[in-house]
Amino acid sequence: MFFTFALFLIASSMIITTTSLPSDIKLCTSFNDNECLLNTPNYILQKHSNGIKNHLDSIDPLKIDSMSVEQTSGPVNILAKLNNFDIVGFSKAKIYKFSGFENNLLDLRMKMPIATLLGPYDVIGKIFILNISGVGKLKLTFKNFDVIMSLPFTKENRDGKSFIKIEQPQMTFDITGGDVSMSHLGAISNAFLNSNFNRIIDAIKPAISKSLIEKLSQKINLFFEANSIEELFIN
Ligand SMILES: *[C@@H]1O[C@H](CO)[C@@H](O)[C@H](O)[C@H]1NC(C)=O
Repeated sequence: MFFTFALFLIASSMIITTTSLPSDIKLCTSFNDNECLLNTPNYILQKHSNGIKNHLDSIDPLKIDSMSVEQTSGPVNILAKLNNFDIVGFSKAKIYKFSGFENNLLDLRMKMPIATLLGPYDVIGKIFILNISGVGKLKLTFKNFDVIMSLPFTKENRDGKSFIKIEQPQMTFDITGGDVSMSHLGAISNAFLNSNFNRIIDAIKPAISKSLIEKLSQKINLFFEANSIEELFIN
């Protein structure tokens, strides 16, 4: 009886470790299959943004445990901490460039019509003349969020399979506008922030990019940790 049970356990754990990606996801045949390399990730964003068991966590909303944004020079001077927040909008994102598997440097470019960041914050600092220090809930929306990510990676071998691991990622982005609401500030202060929205974002762009790409690449690494190159590509 115990033996049968043990066999069952071994068999079921084998099933778990060998579950392949859902069959509606079309795997690409090679690193140079450019059309497929765009279509497949876009399909996953559209159809599987709530995640795939054993392969992918939810990407819409994308849950981030913690992030800080630090900008200590210039007209915007802030130290902001965000914990347990969501980024909403990835299911409508469109990847328009995805290449570089062959030279260990992924170039990933994506546009999101609306990207919204929602969650609690704790901030100390000043934006122009306005003291914005305080604690509350943030809603920050970017319109036409156009992100360019540069993701150098190494390959690691485990159990005869190779896994991509991104190290020292970088990103830049553009937006056409957006809006912000900080719950601890009054209507006049929020209106002031919104009427200066693009200038404020420009001033903290490098700081936001740095923090955001660190978090996004952690998420991408979780995906590559769960899916070997052999499982992602058809040989
Ligand atoms: C900014 O606001 C915070 C919270 O209201 C307050 O504790 C702090 O003293 C203010 N700082 C300045 C420089 O006015």
